[in-house]
Amino acid sequence: MRKQIVAGNWKMNKDLKEGEQLTREILEMVKKEVNHNTGIVLAPPFIHLNSIAEIIKGNSLISLGAQNCHQQPSGAFTGEISASMLKSLDVQYVILGHSERREHFQESDELLAQKIDIVLENGMIPIFCCGESLETREANQQVSFVNSQLQKSLFHLSEQDFQKIVIAYEPIWAIGTGKTATSDQAQEMHANIREQISNKYGQRVADDTTILYGGSCKPSNAGELFAQPDVDGGLIGGASLKARDFVDIIKAF
Ligand code: PGA
Repeated sequence: MRKQIVAGNWKMNKDLKEGEQLTREILEMVKKEVNHNTGIVLAPPFIHLNSIAEIIKGNSLISLGAQNCHQQPSGAFTGEISASMLKSLDVQYVILGHSERREHFQESDELLAQKIDIVLENGMIPIFCCGESLETREANQQVSFVNSQLQKSLFHLSEQDFQKIVIAYEPIWAIGTGKTATSDQAQEMHANIREQISNKYGQRVADDTTILYGGSCKPSNAGELFAQPDVDGGLIGGASLKARDFVDIIKAF
């Protein structure tokens, strides 16, 4: 059975004290209120990872995630962070291909294929983001667009490696805009993604792949989104910055 996951992507928010405080609040609420084994991932900025690892240490409820990593193992790449550095801090998940990275840092499908490989080589789980712009959706090209992203960044993987991947469908027009995809729109794309996986790796692998929805997911809409048969949880931006909202989203399962 595939795993349900709710991951919080803090992006470039929270200083260290605020991040520690948020983590403690989430941990306390989760311990008291969450009685199912949904995977919970916190992805703070790189420089908070070590401190947050200390706070969540020894509990099996919350895992640590990073928001990116470099595609090379090490070397002269000033200002960059390698996969093995993340691994050494007990990071378990790495978000890759977020639309903000694609847009502001020119990350291509081909570059992301390299990042996927190095994260897997270091024993961590990539959360691979895909999703179309408003323009692409208005032209009704969203399915071929997302399929091409999957094809170029993921479908070089062996069946064994593919089974370690988590996918997040994040329509760009819904990210940070307050405009959520309807549960039908989310379900339709998630079913398409699962079908692509099935065509490439077979039905069993497709059935076991966790596919998250991201884009203005909040406590008021999480229940309906997560109730869709192919939606296995969420990648949460804005609402992951408030403990109450984030935990209420986890409880929406
Ligand atoms: P949002 O961001 O929840 O603020 O829309 C989602 C994301 O970018 O992962």
